[in-house]
Amino acid sequence: MKIKILMVCLGNICRSPLAEGILASKLNPDRFLVNSCGTSSYHIGENPDRRSIEIAKKYGIDITNQRAAQFKISDFDIYDFIYPMDSSNYDDIIKLARNDDDKKKVKLILNELQPDADLDVPDPYYGGEQGFEEVYKILDKACDCLAQKL
Ligand code: 4NP
Repeated sequence: MKIKILMVCLGNICRSPLAEGILASKLNPDRFLVNSCGTSSYHIGENPDRRSIEIAKKYGIDITNQRAAQFKISDFDIYDFIYPMDSSNYDDIIKLARNDDDKKKVKLILNELQPDADLDVPDPYYGGEQGFEEVYKILDKACDCLAQKL
């Protein structure tokens, strides 16, 4: 059985598609499955934001085959680890948890880099390209820590 990891943001078009692509690039696909979704329904079925596609491509990662999906309660049954990008995503997922086992799977992604600091991956959607570069670099560091731990 593969270890399954789910990256979560609001729209599933900017941050979590990058987190999915970056972490997957650091793990053995025979042993791990990495996926992503959003807490909202805003962009279901869409490709990642063009700016996320471009920054991933710059670092050699192809995320063009991803399609946005919304988090479902049944994801608690599928995934071993669920990583929200920010505290708002965290709260939305925790509200849907049915029990302590569900809750234990949920952890802010940047707490893998700085334990208990409760830092957010900034939402780059309304900003410029620079925000996407910043998000990429933060997620790359966090996914390095996570990949070593897994
Ligand atoms: P994401 O960014 O949560 O990193 O995918 C956003 C994408 C879309 C929206 C907000 C954030 N939106 O409001 O549509």
